[in-house]
Order: sequence, then C-alpha cells, then structure tokens
Amino acid sequence: MTTAAATAPTVNRRLVLVILVGSAVALGLGTYGNVHDPTGRSLVTLMFTATINAKVWLATIAVALASFQLISALRIYGKIGSGDAPSWLGGAHRISGTAAFVLSIPVAYHCLWALGFTADAGTRILVHSILGCFFYGAFAAKVLAVRSPGLPSWVLPVVGGSAFSALVLIWFTSSFWFFTNVEFPGF
Ligand code: HEM
Repeated sequence: MTTAAATAPTVNRRLVLVILVGSAVALGLGTYGNVHDPTGRSLVTLMFTATINAKVWLATIAVALASFQLISALRIYGKIGSGDAPSWLGGAHRISGTAAFVLSIPVAYHCLWALGFTADAGTRILVHSILGCFFYGAFAAKVLAVRSPGLPSWVLPVVGGSAFSALVLIWFTSSFWFFTNVEFPGF
C-alpha cells in the first residue's frame, strides 16, 4: 500500500516525461520543416532509378517490418496464438523495430530537408507531413515508455499503436499514392 502510494507520483512524472519528449520531438521536426527552405535536391538512389523510387520502397519495407512488430507484440502479449510465444520472438521484435526505424530515417530526412513541410500543396501532402512528424514523436515516446517501469498498462499499446498507425498512414499518403498514380513497381 505504502509502496504503491509512494510510487504513484514517480509513475505520473514518467508518464508526463514520455508525453513531453514525444511532443517535443514531433514539434521540433515540424518547426524545422517549417523554417528550413527545402533544397529540392536528391539523395542517394541506391540501386533505384531515382531518390523518389528508393524512398517509396524503403518506406514499404519499413511498413512491412512494422507490421511484423505489431503481430509479434500481439503474440508476445498472448493476444493471438496459444501457449507461450517462441523464445526468439522477443529478439526478432526488437530487431524488426530497429530496422523499420533505421530505414525510415533517410526517407524522412529527404522529405524534411529536400521537400519541406508545407500546408499549400494539398490535403494528402499536409496529412503526410503532419503524420511524418507525429510518427517520430510517437516512436520516441514508445522507446521511452518501454524503458519506464511501472507505467499504466495502456501506455505501451497506445503509443506503440499510434506510431504504427501513423507509419501506415504515411505509407498510404506517399508510397501507395505513388504505386497507384505514378508507377508500380517503379524500381
Ligand atoms: C518527418 C516529416 C515528414 C515530412 C514533413 C514529409 C514531407 C513530404 C513531402 C512534402 C512529400 C512530397 C509529396 C508529394 O509531392 O507527393 C513527401 C513524400 C514522401 N514521403 Fe514524406 N514526409 C515526412 C516523413 C516521412 C516518413 C516518416 C516517411 C516514411 C518512412 C515518408 C515517406 C515518404 C515517401 C515514400 C514519399 C514519396 C517520395 C517523394 O515524393 O519523394 N515521409 N514527404
């Protein structure tokens, strides 16, 4: 009883920190995108035809890895399947999440640095840009929440689910749009 009462303020502080850090990351990216003049330049194209082709495919792989993250998390927490999750699944969950994040970095970097954040280019691009900033805020909050013991059980599903949903919507407003309006597979 005493322990629970003593830890409640600590838990609240951790929760506030998770929310503040996530918001600061999202707002920081949005502010940078707003004040920085887009360069309009290309980045590396890897083995793709152009930067845009590399971006749509890197984003697609990131969404596939994030989907594995979601499914493996549901399995680890016993929401799907029966019996204990295989012991390797925890490691695979972490690696797939890290890989999705790493792959997203050059894509978002080009978005922010070369294309910028503008409200004048139509709803799709505005939604995409807002979600792009929100995604990194939710991701930062999720990483922090995983490392903050004692948080209410709803925190991790909410921040993890927000990051995943944002990434899927980012993909719909960019890669999916490209595949259906420009070309597919468009390597
Ligand atoms: C960080 C904030 C972000 C901003 C401000 C932003 C902004 C933009 C803008 C303005 C475009 C051009 C849209 C068009 O003309 O069709 C774009 C395209 C794109 N974005 Fe983002 N984006 C962000 C984050 C992300 C993230 C996190 C991803 C995926 C991981 C992503 C993936 C893409 C892709 C695949 C395209 C299409 C390729 C291109 O037009 O170069 N973006 N983004």
